[in-house]
This record gives sequence, structure tokens and C-alpha cells, in this order.
Amino acid sequence: MDRTQLTTSADLTREEVDFLMEEAEKMRGKNTDDLKGKVVATLFLEPSTRTRLSFETASHRLGASVITIADPKTSSVAKGEILADTIRTVEKYADIIVMRHPEVGSAEEAIKYTKKPFLNAGDGANQHPTQSLLDIYTIKRESGGIDGKTIAFIGDLKYGRTVHSLTYILCLYNPTKIIFISPNELKVPEKYIKMLEEKGIKHEETASLEEKMPEIDVIYMTRIQRERFESDDEYNKLKGSYVLTPEIVKMGKESLRILHPLPRVDEITPDVDDMPQSACFRQAENGVYMRMALLKNLSANYYK
Ligand code: CP
Repeated sequence: MDRTQLTTSADLTREEVDFLMEEAEKMRGKNTDDLKGKVVATLFLEPSTRTRLSFETASHRLGASVITIADPKTSSVAKGEILADTIRTVEKYADIIVMRHPEVGSAEEAIKYTKKPFLNAGDGANQHPTQSLLDIYTIKRESGGIDGKTIAFIGDLKYGRTVHSLTYILCLYNPTKIIFISPNELKVPEKYIKMLEEKGIKHEETASLEEKMPEIDVIYMTRIQRERFESDDEYNKLKGSYVLTPEIVKMGKESLRILHPLPRVDEITPDVDDMPQSACFRQAENGVYMRMALLKNLSANYYK
């Protein structure tokens, strides 16, 4: 792998994903000095718990220092500073930049202003490539592989950037089928369906969860995202569309695994958390190891 920047899952190769999963596995439980003397900037211009804190944990575990904008209100973004100026400034302070931004395309915009290692930590409803890497790593660990598995995405598939990014990565493997389960208003964008058709990957769109439960190996549950709707009325019509309960989980295979990028609102009831099928918090832990692998390798490729 020779990349130094990651803005989308669309240009990742199977070799890169396999390599990063191997690297993440090596990071489990480790503290290293791979990034000793380096400064990582985490610019979060949209709220986050897992992505920012796991990137910062990963940085500390690799021996780096961290500078952060955790809230745009406390930065000059609140005074109207444009993205180009923020990036041009931060790249003078930091060796590696991690950025989350509410606007689609902001990661591509940011890399016009820096050649330094850069990681997209989510750009609006578009992409969340580091999440999709930790997701595929979690599927591999929890289900013993990706090939031959039936994977169901459930919930907000229209605005769900984690769904979009993971769909690109699944296309590098040979899943048996991908099932998209959503209300009609939140269907996955057509370009992802076309991509699956072009790759010859079997797929299906439906609104019905329960009838699909027996054939699913991995559920990828998502939140209906209030912040992506124009009005509360629109959100209120769709919230609670799908709720995973122990009764529904028991309709599935014993080997079923449930992933969720989190945060959750009401789409998985808390009594599912203690079932062996629930992998959500193991998935969140895997984020640290995958982000250690990414920070280490993108940095090593740039600072040769
Ligand atoms: N999965 C994810 O992106 O979570 P946060 O919004 O908490 O970072």
C-alpha cells in the first residue's frame, strides 16, 4: 500500500483492505512508537464520539501528540473561515490531518490544500471510509470472512455514509447477497445499486425485515439521522421504522452478527446488547486498531 491520503472507499483495492485488516490485527493491545514526534490534528466540524476519540486513542497508542477542534463553535470556522484557510493553517502545525465535515465533498476539497497524510472521518451524507474499514474488519473477525455471507443494511440507507462506504468495500469481495432494508423514502441511492449490478453481486431492496431474518448472516443496522432531514415532521414520520428486539434477533441464524456504526437511538433495544449476536461495541473497539493501522501506514508512506 503506498497511499498517503484516504477520502473515499471507492478507490480502495482489495489488496489494500486485506493489508489494513492484517495490520489492524497486529495492533490489538499494542502501544508503539511508530508516530513518536508526530502531531495528529483531529478537526471535527460535526459532532462525534467514536471516530474522534478512537482516532485520538490510536494516535496516543502510536506515540503521537494530538491537537483538536472538537466543536466548530470554538474555532474560527464560527467566524466564517473557509475550509481552504483552515487546512492551509493546520497543515503548518500538524503532520497528519483527520477531518470530519458536514458537507458532501469537503474531504476532496481539503486535499487540494495539503499533500500531508489526510483521512476523511466523514463528509456529510457522502463517505466515511475509515468506518467502512473497521466494519469490514469486524465482519471478518466476527463471521470468519466476507465471501459467501448475506449482509443486510437496515434503516437510513439514503443518507447513511457508512452504508455507502461499506458497499464499495463489499464489492471487492464475493458476498452471497446484499439486502437493503429501508422505508421507501430512505432507499439506498441508485448509483450503489448500479455498481452492484456491474459487479454481478446479487442484491435486493425491500421494506420487510422479519421475512428476511432467516437468510441474513450480518445485519448492519443504522440510525434514522435527524440531522439529515429538512424538517422534524419529515424525521418524525420515519423514526422508529425498524427496531431490533431479542424476539426479532431470535428469528435469525444462531451465527447472526449485528453491527451498528453507532450512535444508536431506538433502533436496537438495550436487551439485545448482551446477546452473543450483538457485535456493536466490539466493532467500536476495532476502530482503534484499524485507525492505528491507517495512521501508521499513511504516515510511513509520506515520511519516508
Ligand atoms: N460511527 C461514528 O461515526 O460514530 P461517531 O459519530 O460517534 O463518530
